[in-house]
Amino acid sequence: MTPNHAQPHHPRFHNRIAVVTGAARGIGRAIAVELAREGAAAVVALDVLEEDGRATARLVAEAGHGAGTQGLFIKADVTRPEELEGAAAEVRARFGRCHVLVNNAGISGRHVGDGPVHACSPEAWERVLAVNLTGVFLASRAFIPLMLEEGGAVVNIASDDALQGSLPPNDTHAYAASKGGVIALTRAMAVSYAQAGIRVNAIAPGWVATPMTADIRSDPQVAARLAGASPLGRIASPEEIARAVVFLASEDASFVTGAILPVEGGATIW
Ligand SMILES: NC(=O)c1ccc[n+]([C@@H]2O[C@H](COP(=O)([O-])OP(=O)(O)OC[C@H]3O[C@@H](n4cnc5c(N)ncnc54)[C@H](O)[C@@H]3O)[C@@H](O)[C@H]2O)c1
Repeated sequence: MTPNHAQPHHPRFHNRIAVVTGAARGIGRAIAVELAREGAAAVVALDVLEEDGRATARLVAEAGHGAGTQGLFIKADVTRPEELEGAAAEVRARFGRCHVLVNNAGISGRHVGDGPVHACSPEAWERVLAVNLTGVFLASRAFIPLMLEEGGAVVNIASDDALQGSLPPNDTHAYAASKGGVIALTRAMAVSYAQAGIRVNAIAPGWVATPMTADIRSDPQVAARLAGASPLGRIASPEEIARAVVFLASEDASFVTGAILPVEGGATIW
């Protein structure tokens, strides 16, 4: 795909089919809606949460009303290869191809017993790695074959926790390692798929106001600390992450691959 400078107002995702994992809520939902606002032909939301996933599909159709965007929810757990293969088969049957894959599904280590290595159970380690890292591998494995024909873009959601250490209660080492793995995988995939016309990049968000962080944000003291973790002095909205994802997925980033873009209000520079 080459940049389209002749028609600057052409929707950036015209005729594009996009798949977003973990799109039932939070950042994934914002990404799905943003892709629809940018005129995607279809946005497929994958998640384990059915009701919220269907709500995302409806929001996608609303946001992409002008462009006729189709919103589709497919229930799939990113730790289960057979469910992802089934989802990919459904996307192939309906649309025949896929241009954008956003690997966003993830869990916080805090909620499953993650912590500094001496306090992290082997089960917590396995679970966090299974969703956050193996999930990226399995979803890519299922959907890359649909992207090979026409090319496209993969955007993986890492974290600034992979770029710097954190103090308690966020010193969740399985989480940091899983996101570090996502960064390594992003770079490896970027090289392997470059000649096939598939760019592969990652976003490293800082703190974002989503259901994942609702528990710690509810404590005003912790909320103030999270806001103070970046020079910009606040946490991000899901839409601020979504806009960066959409940039990397679009032809505006046609010469960007293997990049890890921090979207963290500058948290990693001080
Ligand atoms: N919120 C933050 O501060 C923050 C910061 C850095 C990175 N991230 C990353 O951004 C991504 C999205 O996070 P969020 O804050 O929107 O979280 P969230 O918990 O609000 O949403 C995550 C979504 O992923 C889905 N999901 C979880 N496990 C799944 C599985 N096995 N299969 C399919 N779907 C699954 C959930 O059902 C949910 O809909 C995650 O990868 C997260 O690690 C978040």
